[in-house]
Amino acid sequence: RPAFAAAFEKARQRQADIEPIDTLLPGNEERHMRFYVNAVADGTGEGAEESAIVYAVETTEQKALEGQMAQSQKMQAVGQLAGGIAHDFNNVLTAIIMASDLLLTNHRPSDPSFPDIMNIKQNANRAASLVRQLLAFSRKQTLRPEVLNLTDVLADLRMLLARLVGNDIKLKVDHGRDLWPVKVDIGQFEQVVVNLAVNARDAMPNGGELTVRTRNVTTEESKSLPYRELAPADYVVVEVEDTGSGIAPEVLKKIFEPFFTTKEVGKGTGLGLSMVYGIIKQTGGFIFCESEVGKGSVFRIFLPRYIAEARTAGEPGEAPAAPAKIVDAAKDLSGSATVLLVEDEDAVRMGGMRALTSRGYTVHEASSGVEALEIFEALGGKVDIVVS
Ligand SMILES: Nc1ncnc2c1ncn2[C@@H]1O[C@H](COP(=O)(O)OP(=O)(O)OP(=O)(O)O)[C@@H](O)[C@H]1O
Ligand SMILES: [Mg+2]
Repeated sequence: RPAFAAAFEKARQRQADIEPIDTLLPGNEERHMRFYVNAVADGTGEGAEESAIVYAVETTEQKALEGQMAQSQKMQAVGQLAGGIAHDFNNVLTAIIMASDLLLTNHRPSDPSFPDIMNIKQNANRAASLVRQLLAFSRKQTLRPEVLNLTDVLADLRMLLARLVGNDIKLKVDHGRDLWPVKVDIGQFEQVVVNLAVNARDAMPNGGELTVRTRNVTTEESKSLPYRELAPADYVVVEVEDTGSGIAPEVLKKIFEPFFTTKEVGKGTGLGLSMVYGIIKQTGGFIFCESEVGKGSVFRIFLPRYIAEARTAGEPGEAPAAPAKIVDAAKDLSGSATVLLVEDEDAVRMGGMRALTSRGYTVHEASSGVEALEIFEALGGKVDIVVS
């Protein structure tokens, strides 16, 4: 209101360039308006009654888009940061795990250092699993998508979920009819559901109901849903609903951010939903959460319907292979094969080199793809296996 008064005063003084006023529509917090106040510019108007023209423009849509942009940019920036750190960390951890493996093979279990080395390895493995969640969030994972019917997947998962949530929580699985197929990585999808179920369990310490529901959503229906980001298309929707504590609106904005947690230190790392978010995004889907404090929450996942098309050669769009993954050599060649080890991280390459040579393999190492090709040619192609 004072802004209006000021603007009208300026108009009375015949000023041009009056700042527009952004405000919420009274009585409806959801709608944004922008008012333009213009001075009436005819000089003849001696004693004219009106001195200003006010235009009102509804900016709700624009505001929502701005908010959405800011949010997605934030997630992207955090993702990039997390992904960069996770990638380097992954290499460091791989080197540590390899070195402890080497040490373990050289020590007898009765050796006093053995439990210590074991401890190092176990902790490095724990760190590696955290890093994997971060990589999932930053969508840097290698997914192995297959065409699946989620009805089967969820039916198989039911036992595990029931055990996970315990006896005080009633688990309901509500399968949609004639569910369309989707193309997802089954292991990752299970991770998603398990994570949502664990969160739901934590939100219902005194028991409650957990419902997992699936159904088809047609393009037509997807247009009518109140989610702006959702591109109109056919989707299979998976809902995970609980009757737990619910999430306050200011918390709701942050739940997908990595390391955001409301749980006590040592109880939650805040990576669960970040991982869920990353996996769903990488799969081409969407996830939304609606919640009411005291009533419960529902997480709604939209996975694009898979429509079989004519076979195209190669699968584009898949993430590059995770680095530093040592593939087991084929059984019949074990201990005698010629291995070409390609790895750009020195520490990881050295570890792999030692591990392989100590098992009797002939190892040629390369620190880049180009170098690997040169070595491959120099050897006349006599390489049994390439590890990269
Ligand atoms: N179903 C739910 N009901 C109430 N709050 C939830 C629910 N799911 C998530 N939250 C809130 O979102 C936060 C982030 O969840 P997220 O799964 O990312 O991390 P976390 O569960 O705290 O830790 P982690 O999953 O890494 O062990 C939680 O701390 C909690 O406050
Ligand atoms: Mg969690």
